[in-house]
Amino acid sequence: LLEEVSRVAATGRIAALGDSLVLDLHGASLRAGLEDFGTRLRFFEIPRGEAAKTLSVVENTCAGLAEWGFERGDVIVGFGGGATTDVAGFIASILARGVRYASLATTLLAQVDAAIGGKTGVNLAQGKNLLGTFHQPMAVGCDTSFLTTLPLREYRAGLAEVVKTAWIGDPELLELLEEDPPKTPQHVLLPEIVRRCVAVKANIVAEDEKEEGRRAVLNFGHTLGHAIEWEAHGRVLHGEAVALGLLAAIHLSVASGRCGPELLARMKTLLEKLELPVRDPDLDVHAVLARTRHDKKRSGARDRYQLTEGVGQVSVAQDLPEDAPRKALEFLRR
Ligand SMILES: NC(=O)c1ccc[n+]([C@@H]2O[C@H](COP(=O)([O-])OP(=O)(O)OC[C@H]3O[C@@H](n4cnc5c(N)ncnc54)[C@H](O)[C@@H]3O)[C@@H](O)[C@H]2O)c1
Ligand SMILES: [Zn+2]
Repeated sequence: LLEEVSRVAATGRIAALGDSLVLDLHGASLRAGLEDFGTRLRFFEIPRGEAAKTLSVVENTCAGLAEWGFERGDVIVGFGGGATTDVAGFIASILARGVRYASLATTLLAQVDAAIGGKTGVNLAQGKNLLGTFHQPMAVGCDTSFLTTLPLREYRAGLAEVVKTAWIGDPELLELLEEDPPKTPQHVLLPEIVRRCVAVKANIVAEDEKEEGRRAVLNFGHTLGHAIEWEAHGRVLHGEAVALGLLAAIHLSVASGRCGPELLARMKTLLEKLELPVRDPDLDVHAVLARTRHDKKRSGARDRYQLTEGVGQVSVAQDLPEDAPRKALEFLRR
């Protein structure tokens, strides 16, 4: 990534956007990797977490970039987790009608999911990611050594996306996770695991960049997962909600006759090995169902649930028994 960015920005500028924690922990190593740029490399600090994904952050950062004299041939690097890469990509897509962009991902979630695929965005008070663009990065860097400073809970939350990705498109990776679960970021196979997840997602995106069809399978576990996350009001991390959402999606798949209950047991055992939640006694079933209907209305009521026939087989379904989502949520409360 650094080579590619250096080549493209050869005589221009590089703006690295990152939150205060990531810049404190890892800013020096990025600066060292781009030392030839001297003052042509500048860091722009954005808020931590979802607070970065607002239009006022976009406006302030763009103003700072313009003040510095940032031009079309210069390069933006999104340096951080998914919140950072989402807003940095968004800025790159609109500044001067689009400038080159690279993402250097520092969370597991960003390395295996958010930083790849070109979806960018910010939130509105009415909901997450309501403003956004498709803007492909020219390069994505995933260095697992960044992950050693990540809180273990954040690391594990990222593992839920690894499980999702393996289930969708890499059955062998799923077996590897079962045999030798990567419980810490020091795990020797982690670079290989990240590499395989990137390959699965990149292939799906290459086939359907704008999510007109197949890309929707990447939402496996996310229909109920998003609603669980939203209604938990910060108590449950995104990846933790995805773990619950994956179980719910398989519960729905069993209920609609697509697969047998042994797959539900298989997913539960794997999530437990990875120390991810497999139940939530505080889950508010009514609120989550109402939120799911709300999300469904907004997305045009189509392509509602991603269900599975088996590992490596995920498809979109509209033929669910009416009661199935409620039963799946009640299963999670037990
Ligand atoms: N564009 C997409 O396709 C896509 C896909 C999935 C998720 N997302 C988005 O990604 C975001 C969530 O991603 P995230 O969890 O990576 O978010 P994040 O960027 O908020 O990072 C989470 C926290 O980890 C800290 N952090 C980051 N790297 C660290 C490191 N190496 N060591 C210590 N701390 C570190 C950050 O400061 C932050 O507090 C959401 O906004 C979601 O909408 C986007
Ligand atoms: Zn996700």
